[in-house]
Amino acid sequence: MPTHSTSKIFVIGGTGAQGLPVIGALVADKKYSVRALSRDPASRRANALRALGNVSILEGTFADEAILREGFRGCDGAYVNIDGFNTGEKAETYWAIRSYEIAVEEGIKFFVYGNLDYALKKSGYDSRFRAGHYDGKGRMGEWILFQNQANKDRMGAAVFTTGPYMEMAISAMTPMTPSVEDGVVTWRVPLGNGAVPHVALDDCGYYARWLFDNPERANGMNLEVAIEHVEYQKLAAAFEKVTGHPAQYIDTDLDAYWNGPLKAAADLPAGYNADPNDKSTMSFRDNFTGFWNVWKYGVVQRDYGLLDEIHPNRIGSVEQWLRREDQLGRELGKGNLWERVQPENLYKAPPLLKLTEDKRKGTL
Ligand SMILES: NC(=O)c1ccc[n+]([C@@H]2O[C@H](COP(=O)([O-])OP(=O)(O)OC[C@H]3O[C@@H](n4cnc5c(N)ncnc54)[C@H](OP(=O)(O)O)[C@@H]3O)[C@@H](O)[C@H]2O)c1
Repeated sequence: MPTHSTSKIFVIGGTGAQGLPVIGALVADKKYSVRALSRDPASRRANALRALGNVSILEGTFADEAILREGFRGCDGAYVNIDGFNTGEKAETYWAIRSYEIAVEEGIKFFVYGNLDYALKKSGYDSRFRAGHYDGKGRMGEWILFQNQANKDRMGAAVFTTGPYMEMAISAMTPMTPSVEDGVVTWRVPLGNGAVPHVALDDCGYYARWLFDNPERANGMNLEVAIEHVEYQKLAAAFEKVTGHPAQYIDTDLDAYWNGPLKAAADLPAGYNADPNDKSTMSFRDNFTGFWNVWKYGVVQRDYGLLDEIHPNRIGSVEQWLRREDQLGRELGKGNLWERVQPENLYKAPPLLKLTEDKRKGTL
């Protein structure tokens, strides 16, 4: 019987918001070691990874076959999160395919693909729901599972479908950054009565680790995760309950949303290295209009029963997440949640996304 158990994992996207907790969970007990790819090996995030002890950094870009080969070679596992906000949708498609193909060739035993929902397909191919950073991954998730039908003995593969990080709702420069209006924490987003299946980054670490720990069950699986579908009235109510300070959700039409804090970014390409003159390149406005419609109209579902089985101690509600985050923030000296979302603190905190930290600059 072929075995898909692994001990050395090549990680693409390891210095990112998603990669940090994934690597943390992989190496915590030294069961796995990690080789993480980074264009920026001197960054504070790369240093934080090295400080974990059993992580090495390979300098380079995923948009280079020789680097991909060097990264996979000598490893037996791979966690691949290709940054579509760098590449744009077209190049993301190409490099996702090449990553998978080179991983097979280089003898990887188990491959985990960092995925997002193929929302356009899930909506019945209705372009109101077209978000390039979702579809760009979701198509490739399906493609990988299809290849895996033929290759599953040689290299197992699982698709790990996440969603908007819950952390983004309390962070600067995200699609759901809060403001404080007359002392009321306020989320102004075009969500209607819909709900966002937010994910908790720490739980992503647990789930990714579970995939590598259970490769025979995980082989061929699309593990789609979330805390819960978060209605923003519920987010605001939970915030009030946890912090004792007022909060509100204000449903916002798309025109008002794109004339708000994101106005300056609306016409830029969603991927910072995508060609603005290429007709296939989606702008922020087009991309995130589709994104909000996906949540507003309930296009995406989750099997919460399965998640309870796989991760019995998972964070299962937005209130639980906020309570935990409030506690963690106090312990780490960041202040309580109410303090952290005040603009003078929010915009000073280290950015959640590396892309924000790097001001959307960097090579492909
Ligand atoms: N924001 C969300 O809520 C969310 C949720 C789920 C999935 N995603 C998806 O996750 C991806 C981004 O990852 P993230 O959320 O962790 O964002 P992030 O914090 O901005 O991190 C981006 C990561 O991608 C790496 N990277 C970018 N371009 C690279 C290149 N050419 N070669 C090698 N590495 C490269 C960066 O590494 P270096 O800078 O060190 O090279 C970094 O590790 C996007 O495709 C996004 O759609 C985002």
